[in-house]
Amino acid sequence: MELVSYVEALKIIKSPTRVALAVVRAKENIYNLITLEWYMRTSIEPPMFAISIGHTRYSYECLQENRFFNLVFPSDEMKNIVKYCGSHSGRDFDKFNILDINWMPGRLNKLPILDDAVANFECQITGQIKSGDHTIFVGEVKYVWANADKELAIYYPLKD
Ligand SMILES: Cc1cc2nc3c(=O)[nH]c(=O)nc-3n(C[C@H](O)[C@H](O)[C@H](O)COP(=O)(O)O)c2cc1C
Repeated sequence: MELVSYVEALKIIKSPTRVALAVVRAKENIYNLITLEWYMRTSIEPPMFAISIGHTRYSYECLQENRFFNLVFPSDEMKNIVKYCGSHSGRDFDKFNILDINWMPGRLNKLPILDDAVANFECQITGQIKSGDHTIFVGEVKYVWANADKELAIYYPLKD
């Protein structure tokens, strides 16, 4: 055991190990995607997920306006989407249209469902709490879509 830097420790514990994407609504018929490591299940009944979003993110603005998100568990074949959405802001790029995303409209508030993902959880925000420079949005899961035959994108290496 030895003292290491925070970044070194993240590499050692292989964090992030399982990343997700959230789809949010930017404007009418315009959607944004953000790569997320900070998400968790927070309730069994009703089923709930929380996502932590930085205040500088475009997605943070979007979530203040439209109180829904689709939490997406990407498949292995979506690694390029995960990478792009974690390094480009919706303020500067229309990520949803630039990336060749296969999608269909969801049931709840019609946010897109990503066809090639392992799972999509359509959530309605029921509360939020400020956590330093991020805000945790808590969402109740309303509809779930899944592709049982797809492989999860389980590891996304940190940049050096
Ligand atoms: C692997 C990975 C995990 C990330 N996890 C989060 C996260 O949990 N919360 C967050 O606010 N940003 C996270 N980010 C950063 C955002 O994805 C990134 O800043 C993105 O460009 C923001 O897009 P937006 O401005 O369109 O919202 C992560 C980035 C990467 C590469």
